Amino acid sequence: RIKILAISGSLRSNSSNTALVRAIANLSPKNIEFTIYNGLGDLPHFNPDIDIDDNEPPAVKDLRTQLKEADGVLLCTPEYANGVPGVLKNALDWIVSSGEFVNKPVAVISASPHPLGGEKAHASLLLTLNMVSAEVVEGGTLIIPFINLKLKEGVMDPGTAEDLKSVLHALIQAIRVH
Ligand code: FNR
Repeated sequence: RIKILAISGSLRSNSSNTALVRAIANLSPKNIEFTIYNGLGDLPHFNPDIDIDDNEPPAVKDLRTQLKEADGVLLCTPEYANGVPGVLKNALDWIVSSGEFVNKPVAVISASPHPLGGEKAHASLLLTLNMVSAEVVEGGTLIIPFINLKLKEGVMDPGTAEDLKSVLHALIQAIRVH
């Protein structure tokens, strides 16, 4: 059974990116094990001093285990101050030394109420994923501007739902051929 781990880059309770991740989970075929990671806010600040072999902080161990067990990863993030939110970058920094992203099929979505859709955070995330040797899948990238208009009170516009489905299917397809 294919396992996908989805990570929202926003800790906000009313986050549009987390809502998108939940929507994708609902669109996911029943034969896919789709898990939403919920430990982002529990990760310690990255510090190589506490990244001790086989004795890393428990939250870090948990993230690494979940990533290792996942056949593919879906990231969905806002943009803060023209970049990737610190909490998400922090999580990725923990994975540089441990290598769980190496050759891992990954889909990358950014969403923002702004007309540019968080394209700078999206681009920055691709740079980081490239550095950790992740496989960003063909058809698996999406930038969603005006998310506030496309997702209102839990209701999503059909075009966005189609786009999300397409990204999800590109990820699943890439995992299958992997
Ligand atoms: C933002 N926002 C934002 N949007 C954007 O497109 N580019 C940016 O650089 C920023 N910068 C930024 C900084 C800070 C501190 C905040 C709080 C917000 C707006 C952001 O896209 C908006 O709040 C989204 O709704 C955040 O995503 P979630 O939490 O809804 O997933």
